[in-house]
Amino acid sequence: MLPVGTIFVINATPSLADLVLVFCLSLSVGMPLLKALAFAGKIPQLSYKIDEIEKAMDNEPLKSNGNSFIGNSHIVKFENVRFAYKDREVLHGVSLELPEGTLTALVGESGSGKSTLAKLLVHYYDLNGGKISLGGQDITDMSIEALNDNISYVSQEQFLFNTTLYNNILIGKPDASREEVLSAAEKAQCGEFLARLPKGIDTLAGDGGKMLSGGERQRISLARAILKNAPVIVLDEATSGLDLAHMKQVSQQLKKLKEMGKTVIVVTHDNEFIISCCDHIIRLENGCVAENCPMPVSDHSLSPEHTPSLVSVPL
Ligand SMILES: Nc1ncnc2c1ncn2[C@@H]1O[C@H](COP(=O)(O)OP(=O)(O)OP(=O)(O)O)[C@@H](O)[C@H]1O
Ligand SMILES: [Mg+2]
Repeated sequence: MLPVGTIFVINATPSLADLVLVFCLSLSVGMPLLKALAFAGKIPQLSYKIDEIEKAMDNEPLKSNGNSFIGNSHIVKFENVRFAYKDREVLHGVSLELPEGTLTALVGESGSGKSTLAKLLVHYYDLNGGKISLGGQDITDMSIEALNDNISYVSQEQFLFNTTLYNNILIGKPDASREEVLSAAEKAQCGEFLARLPKGIDTLAGDGGKMLSGGERQRISLARAILKNAPVIVLDEATSGLDLAHMKQVSQQLKKLKEMGKTVIVVTHDNEFIISCCDHIIRLENGCVAENCPMPVSDHSLSPEHTPSLVSVPL
C-alpha cells in the first residue's frame, strides 16, 4: 500500500492526508484479517458441525403434546418397545417394569442397548413400536418439560459447561439455595476433590469439563441429578469412574433415594455396586431382555459368595 500510495500522492491524487488515513485504516483491517487466517484450519471442523446441526434441524419433531403429567405414580413401564437407529433395529420388543421405591441394575454386554433404553425413557428419540409409560401415562402424551421434571438423567457421556462447578450443579434446580447445592455436592461425594481445588466449588470446569477427571465429572453430574430430586432417577454408568470407597458412599445415597420412594435405574457393569444396593437385575442381550430377576435377598450387606442368583447373571 505504501509504494502504490506514494505514487498516487506524487501524482497529486489523493492528498497526503488521505494516504495517512488509508494507511491507518489498513492497519485496523490487516490485524483482524491475520487473526481470521489463524482460524482457517478450523473451517473444516466447523463445516462438519454445521452439517450436523442442519441434519438435527431437519429431523421430525418428537411426538409430544403439551399435556402436563397426570400419572398416578412413578412406575416406569416398557411395553414391547422396538427402536432402530436409521434402518438398524437395536431394541427388539423390550418389556419391563420398574416399580417405585426400587433400585434396578441394567446390565449387559457393550452394545446390547442399555444406553439406548435409558435415552428412550427420557424421550431422546421416538419409538418404532411399543410404548413407554410413566405412572400409566404414555411419555408421548406429555410435554417434554413435564417428562423432564419427573426424571433426573445422568448420561454415559458427561458434559459440563464452561462455567463454575457450582453453576453446573445448579442446572439441576435453578432456584436452589447455595446450601442445597453444597449439600447435593456432598451427597455425590464431591467434597474431597472440591477441597483440593483453589476456588472449591467456584472453580471453572473448563471446556466440556476438561479441568476435571472422568470420575470427578461423574460426581458433579450426579450432584446435579441429586439436586434435581426428581421421582425417577436414571444413571448411565454414573459410577464407573469411582473408586471402591466413593462407589460405596454413592450406593448408600442411592439406597436412601430408593427408600424415599424414588424409581431408580442404574446402568452398570459393577458387580460390587449391584450387590451393595440393587433390588433387581435386568440383563439385556442383543437388544432383548435376556434375564429379569430380583436380587435373592433383601439384605444387601451379603458378600458376593452369598448371592448365588447374581453369579448366574453374567454382567
Ligand atoms: N447414535 C447412534 N447411531 C447409530 N447407532 C447407534 C447409536 N448409538 C448407539 N448405536 C448402536 O446401537 C447399539 C446399542 O448401543 P448402546 O449405546 O445402547 O449400547 P450399550 O449397551 O449402552 O453399550 P456400552 O455398554 O458400550 O455403553 C450398538 O450396536 C450401537 O452401535
Ligand atoms: Mg452405554
